[in-house]
Amino acid sequence: MAGKIPEQFIDELLARVDIVDVIDTRVPLRKAGKDYKACCPFHEEKTPSFTVSQSKQFYHCFGCGQHGSAIGFLMEYEHMSFPEAVEELAKRAGMEVPRDARVIKDQPDTTAPLLEALAQADRFYRRMLREHPQAHEAVAYLKRRGLSGEIAADFGLGFAPDGWDNLLKAAAASDAMRDALLAAGLAVKKDGGGLYDRFRHRVMFPIHDHRGRLIGFGGRVLDSGEPKYLNSPETPLFHKGRELYGLYRARDALKRVGRALVVEGYMDVVSLAQYGIDYAVATLGTATTRDHLERLFRYVPEVVFCFDGDRAGRAAAWRALENALPVLHEGRQVSFLFLPDGEDPDTLVRKEGKEAFETRLQQALSLPDYFFQALADQVDMARSDAPARIAELAKPLLSNLRSEALRHLMLERITEKNRLAGASLGQVMTGSSSRLPGKRANSGESNTGVSPLRRAIQLLLLYPEFAQVTDTENLDFLARLARPGTELLEKLTTLIRNHPTMTLGAILEHFRGSEHEPHLAKLGSTPVPGDRAEHEILFRDTLHKLRQEATTQEIERLMNKDRFVGLNDQEKSELKRLLADKTQVRPV
Ligand code: UTP
Ligand code: MN
Repeated sequence: MAGKIPEQFIDELLARVDIVDVIDTRVPLRKAGKDYKACCPFHEEKTPSFTVSQSKQFYHCFGCGQHGSAIGFLMEYEHMSFPEAVEELAKRAGMEVPRDARVIKDQPDTTAPLLEALAQADRFYRRMLREHPQAHEAVAYLKRRGLSGEIAADFGLGFAPDGWDNLLKAAAASDAMRDALLAAGLAVKKDGGGLYDRFRHRVMFPIHDHRGRLIGFGGRVLDSGEPKYLNSPETPLFHKGRELYGLYRARDALKRVGRALVVEGYMDVVSLAQYGIDYAVATLGTATTRDHLERLFRYVPEVVFCFDGDRAGRAAAWRALENALPVLHEGRQVSFLFLPDGEDPDTLVRKEGKEAFETRLQQALSLPDYFFQALADQVDMARSDAPARIAELAKPLLSNLRSEALRHLMLERITEKNRLAGASLGQVMTGSSSRLPGKRANSGESNTGVSPLRRAIQLLLLYPEFAQVTDTENLDFLARLARPGTELLEKLTTLIRNHPTMTLGAILEHFRGSEHEPHLAKLGSTPVPGDRAEHEILFRDTLHKLRQEATTQEIERLMNKDRFVGLNDQEKSELKRLLADKTQVRPV
């Protein structure tokens, strides 16, 4: 729908609005030193650890770790999407959001009539559950399933009576409304013309999007008819691959618990909620997609998938894993819970209750563990080449990971599980042993425990103007450095050089959605002891260390090569140059 908003506009927008104003109107702030403070709106606390920095245009909670720019704040606090948050800020700043040329301006709002049709249907189904002469069937069914009247009302359950045109008769007062019912998927066109109700003789589950708008329905048969569940078709409002049943209702619980449970069925979500597990959501009869996960990770750092223990459940879990890999990065956790055969969360929570069910959640398999287990299942572990086979299978999947650090972690886990000498599997995976976890000796860790690379990035975020210091002029050496984060330092320096007045908030917006974002936010909000002058010295010093490290690594590589296959003339002179470089006095 909306075209991409140009980055330049985002920069300008963030330069115009003040994050302090944006937050203060929603969460009253108090001045504390050069920053502003309040009790954190994202977790419960008595003493304020939620801090807003005007100079950085960035907020950060030292309690729960939430952080971001003015845009990020609106996304978190108001549950807005990125374009919605930009729109809101632009309105405030009196700016107009430019869109891609592809987007037609002033499009009429085509979704309004659909929303109206859905709202009417919702009122109708709910009234039918109370008033229809056959409603007792539906009520009896829900009771048999163990639902309380309270939870049924809470989820807005309804009843579509038997018959072809109950809803149409009740709701389609005008041609426009008939069109809207059709477009919203509530009515279906007959072959010979005319319409009939899509949902007949079913218990109705209203489905809301993340903003709380009613966008569709799921309807369950009362008996053993087929299909068991009938869902709204895809409409301009309803996209199965993006929406999650129960998300809007669960949003506060998600924030509170910090974890989302993803189950397969409507009934599972409702039963779990009845038993006090109010942080479950369900996919709508589809596999979990990347969009689903990205959406969930906006609310929580941890997602637990719940699957049946049967074949279909295992297949669904594997698909979920494949979709999870590309959206994983540090700070995001995914785990897998397999239920005993023949059980689903609905039946299990009724049998066991909340506590026992939550104990199961604690024991869910972490993604790396599940990953290894699933691979091992595909390989004859008695054979001597099993580790190599596992590595072969893992390789294409791990290449989907955007985060290098995570790839290391997964490798480490697999290697450990495989009871292998670290090197052999690592070599299969990367084609070399230079990047193996645990082999990063001589990493130049300073006595503060912060690696020079992290230190350099952190200082750049605190003082973007450091990007101009002479040491950063030529960062080519970073490419040679076998260390996670080198690429980020280069990107960051280039970005700041091109936009010298950027604040931390604006820098983070540039990295929104990238694997680097959470790192950067964390590093940017961690204080560094000392004053600015000391920090500048530290920055130069850190870069110097990195340069030396790159030189040492390259020297080692060339000397090794020399030993095994010999060097050509060019490499020989390069080695000579590097050796001279190494002994050179550092520039100040
Ligand atoms: P299940 O078949 O596991 O049903 O479908 P369930 O959730 O246990 O349902 P109950 O307990 O018998 O009422 C899981 C989910 O798959 C989708 C629905 O979203 C359902 O909640 N589904 C299932 C369909 O869309 N259509 C179907 O015919 C069946
Ligand atoms: Mn079930």
